[in-house]
Amino acid sequence: MTKNIVIVGTQWGDEGKGKITDYLGNEADVVCRFQGGNNAGHTIVIDGNKFALHLIPSGIFHEDKINIMGNGMVINPIAFKNEVLELENKGFSTKNLFVSSRAHVTLPYHIELDKLQEEIKGDQNVGTTFKGIGPTYTDKYSRIGIRVCDFINDDIFKQKLTFVINWHNHIFKAYGKKLFDVEEVFIEMKEYQIFMKNYVCDTTKLIDDLKNDNKKILFEGAQGALLDIEQGTYPFVTSSTPTAAGVATGSGVGPNYIEKVLGIVKSYSTRVGSGKFVSEIDGDIANYIRERGHEYGTTTGRARRIGWFDTVVINHTRRVSGLTDLSIMLLDVLSGLDEIKICTHYLFKGEEINYFPALIDDLNECLPVYETLAGWQEDITACSSFDELPLNAQKYLNRIEELTGVSISLISVGPDRKQTIVKNKMW
Ligand code: IMP
Repeated sequence: MTKNIVIVGTQWGDEGKGKITDYLGNEADVVCRFQGGNNAGHTIVIDGNKFALHLIPSGIFHEDKINIMGNGMVINPIAFKNEVLELENKGFSTKNLFVSSRAHVTLPYHIELDKLQEEIKGDQNVGTTFKGIGPTYTDKYSRIGIRVCDFINDDIFKQKLTFVINWHNHIFKAYGKKLFDVEEVFIEMKEYQIFMKNYVCDTTKLIDDLKNDNKKILFEGAQGALLDIEQGTYPFVTSSTPTAAGVATGSGVGPNYIEKVLGIVKSYSTRVGSGKFVSEIDGDIANYIRERGHEYGTTTGRARRIGWFDTVVINHTRRVSGLTDLSIMLLDVLSGLDEIKICTHYLFKGEEINYFPALIDDLNECLPVYETLAGWQEDITACSSFDELPLNAQKYLNRIEELTGVSISLISVGPDRKQTIVKNKMW
């Protein structure tokens, strides 16, 4: 019996991981996030009601599940409190929510640093979510970050805050920005410190106990492999490790513990922010997909860039994340198109390649090589098995399996939990 599944984004995020985490979470005992912060936006629809989560694991809607925010995360204490209160106000309990004492906290100066860096980069900006994610991870790796265990301890927090604010104020001063005041930030954070304290524990120990208790654990990735700091389209990436490798470092389990890695993939591609997107399209088809797929950011409201399904991307993710299964999302969005394209290769310096060049200048030169398949006109939102799908939809999915070498286990044909076709059972 499967004991754990890792859910990862295979593209540039926004693939619909929240829905699948919620769906598979039904059979899990534990849901654990292991990287990122409130740059993520996971939308879950339950009985027609829409919920957007940014920090808290998507298992929170199942009352009996344990939800863990792992050490690899960066947590904005203000956003944390707001999200918890919003959930509680809507009747969802957070009594089984646990925050790692080793996660790092995102504080107001991180957000200002994020904005400043983007401003300085000008037209080379990353297009970040302005949530302070990069600067929080920068502090972590510079070993001047503030962890949750430091944050909830008055003396240590004050001492570390004094050092780090003085440090960053040099930059703010150099660029003529408002300086931060240690006392002000310290006082502002008081209520959030007190609030967060109730949720903190050593989550590595907790996970180990749960493992030993034979509990089923679902690891919920945020963002996607192409935004991975190591394997993504650097520098147009986030600052964490959204690939399955991040589970080990970001939650404290050994890599040999991981059993299944489920790649969440849209039936087309989207991207927000800057950076090359080889299979990008615009015009009528892009607008059709954007509107039908509600392709506007959950966190920032930005219109997402649209493209065809790109197997170079998915093969890259298969390699770097060790994908064992795929979950195809938003297949219903493609209904009504006469033709559907799949990008099979990139044309680079006259040669067909199926890998991602590391150098952004090389990637910028890549052109998509497409295969064209016939579309389908039927509404598929009520289909509940693979065989019920129109033949052309089946052919499209079969071709994706052939080109990626990964079997499709789940197919989503609508936002609701019920609109999920199971081809292979995951648990
Ligand atoms: P950051 O994570 O805010 O630093 O942003 C870095 C890059 O990652 C930008 O291109 C963002 O648009 C992108 N990004 C971060 N989080 C998400 C997400 O949850 N979905 C999609 N893109 C994201």
